[in-house]
Amino acid sequence: MKKKPIILGIETSCDETAASIIQQNKDENVKILSNIVSSQIDVHKEFGGVVPELAARSHAEKIDLITKKAISESGIKIKDIDAVAATAGPGLIVCLSVGFNFGKAIAASLKKPFIAVNHLEGHALSPKLNSKLNYPYLLLLISGGHSQFLSVENLGKYKRLGTTIDDAVGEAFDKTAKLIGIEFPGGPQIEEYAKQGDPNKFNLPKPIINRGGCNLSFAGLKTAVLTISKKIKTKKEKFDLAASFQKTIEEILYKKSKIAFKEFRKINNNGNKFVVAGGVAANKKIRKVLENLCKEENFESIFPPVNLCGDNAAMIAMVGLEKFKKKQFNKLDYPAKPRWALDENAVFLKGAGVKL
Ligand code: KG4
Ligand code: ZN
Repeated sequence: MKKKPIILGIETSCDETAASIIQQNKDENVKILSNIVSSQIDVHKEFGGVVPELAARSHAEKIDLITKKAISESGIKIKDIDAVAATAGPGLIVCLSVGFNFGKAIAASLKKPFIAVNHLEGHALSPKLNSKLNYPYLLLLISGGHSQFLSVENLGKYKRLGTTIDDAVGEAFDKTAKLIGIEFPGGPQIEEYAKQGDPNKFNLPKPIINRGGCNLSFAGLKTAVLTISKKIKTKKEKFDLAASFQKTIEEILYKKSKIAFKEFRKINNNGNKFVVAGGVAANKKIRKVLENLCKEENFESIFPPVNLCGDNAAMIAMVGLEKFKKKQFNKLDYPAKPRWALDENAVFLKGAGVKL
């Protein structure tokens, strides 16, 4: 029997050093043999955000060890690897370079194909790690740096339907957390605070909710949170602000996803699959709200498991596996790409003067 392909994935685009081994299984399923993620929270905590040079140094210190661990935990031998996939972008260039160059070196030494992966495509394909998923599907990608609706037509083929015109959802979660006094990275903690607060206490704005199609905007919401955060003192008020913020995000994503469903159906007649991926997709309330919307609109809702929503290398290996099957390999002089949109034809929609 022909050997099922084994892919090594490597990810260092931001503040997680990650390596993973996956294998194509029988009946087209995929098996994660190992998935090691080393977070740098302790490195950046005292600065309240990611410091690129410190992140890069930490990646350089750990990438060798993390990759060795991924190989030993998987139970395979390094020579069994069929291809090496590494994140080429988008992300911080000093961070990307560490894992990208390390991946090239392994591929060269093993004389195996090298595959450059778009980090966002990793999030887009992450549900394929635990379930079968055919193209096309509508994707809501919500992470720390990106918030977009994309029609995923095929591997490498994306049409952007909507994007944020200012901040990303994850960024809004992190900023709100910081203003409430929660330590970096605060996004996940907002969800916990929200459970203890009154979601109707503060009336927060939902920018461009009635215009701009399924484009998104969070800057005005962030400013409103800033203004209120200066006036509140008690823990109870902090819980209330977190709950009001969480509820506002849920309402924005509900309404904008509904618009995106219409636009997706216009271009994909029978399309009825909705994937929500990226770090913010770990938020249980957001999952619930979007699941309910899918029931109302006859869409099938698909979420990656919570542990595969945030940055990891299994999703990078997943893209690597799909590209491997299509023999889409890259030369070793392929550059890292700090800016790399999934839909390279989409117009830039950021900053003052944007017309929606
Ligand atoms: O995908 P990801 O790990 O990294 C990027 O590619 O950006 O996403 C990280 C983002 C952060 O902004 C983090 O606060 C947010 O995802 N996040 C959450 C939750 N878990 C992570 N936001 C809201 N609720 C959560 N449970
Ligand atoms: Zn990410």
